[in-house]
Amino acid sequence: MHNTTRPAARLPVPAIRAHQLNKIYPNGTRAVSDVSLTVHTNEFVSVIGSSGAGKSSLLRCINRLIRPTSGTLELFGEDITKISGRHIRQVRGKVGMIFQQFNLVRRLSVLENVLVSRLRFNSSLIGHCCTLVRHFSRNEKEFAFECLQQVGIEHLAFQRADTLSGGQQQRVAIARALAQEPEIFLADEPIASLDPHSAEVVMDTLMQIHETRHIPVLVNLHHIDFATRYGKRIVGMRKGKIIHDVPPSGLTDDLITDIYGARINEAFGELAACA
Ligand SMILES: Nc1ncnc2c1ncn2[C@@H]1O[C@H](COP(=O)(O)OP(=O)(O)OP(=O)(O)O)[C@@H](O)[C@H]1O
Ligand SMILES: [Mg+2]
Repeated sequence: MHNTTRPAARLPVPAIRAHQLNKIYPNGTRAVSDVSLTVHTNEFVSVIGSSGAGKSSLLRCINRLIRPTSGTLELFGEDITKISGRHIRQVRGKVGMIFQQFNLVRRLSVLENVLVSRLRFNSSLIGHCCTLVRHFSRNEKEFAFECLQQVGIEHLAFQRADTLSGGQQQRVAIARALAQEPEIFLADEPIASLDPHSAEVVMDTLMQIHETRHIPVLVNLHHIDFATRYGKRIVGMRKGKIIHDVPPSGLTDDLITDIYGARINEAFGELAACA
């Protein structure tokens, strides 16, 4: 007789798993409050919420720029809640992060900015930042070039970073994050200081990376229309808590009011400014 018991289906290990995560800053502010969130590799998640809702603090916990106060945080099944030192640097290497202000080295060329993120693979080069390009191998430079190609700005490789427009600088920041060969992409208001067209180009670039490299993306956004246009899932935060987690089609006016409360007009003001 055949054994008809089916083997248990193996669930994929989530890219990010936060369980009852809390971040309380030394001044007593509870920025992240009992957050439980699971993100799989095939997900592009938009996080929305008013200023001070805890969006950045959540992202900073996930790449361990800050240490969660309690709860657990796993990346691909590895518990990173309490790690320290070299282990934190290893984890950050796996997490590509981009910020509103691009954080490029202004006086370096575009290519050098991308190569900076290869330093963790070439620790002997740390300290050679001023003459970076010369010290990297041909392979490394070609790889950095490919990252620039992927975001469509390889023609700017030898231009100084501070001569670029905001949208171009953000794409350099994306290429730099790509060059570290990340397994997860986090973006903290990547389009907040961009005009609508540049914002669209940057969001398209993030989506293209998500789709071609199968990297999960978690992006904090102030613009509801961008959040719903690109996110396959919308996470709404208020006062440190996730109060809604819905597909874009489920983000009703009532939920938006819950998330933004009395400041709902701010969100729509920003929306109108972007239209
Ligand atoms: N280093 C810090 N020390 C103390 N409090 C902080 C610190 N960083 C953030 N906070 C506080 O934590 C709360 C959440 O801040 P956070 O920056 O995470 O919100 P946010 O949703 O990203 O806001 P915004 O949309 O304005 O970027 C706020 O009350 C903020 O003042
Ligand atoms: Mg923020």
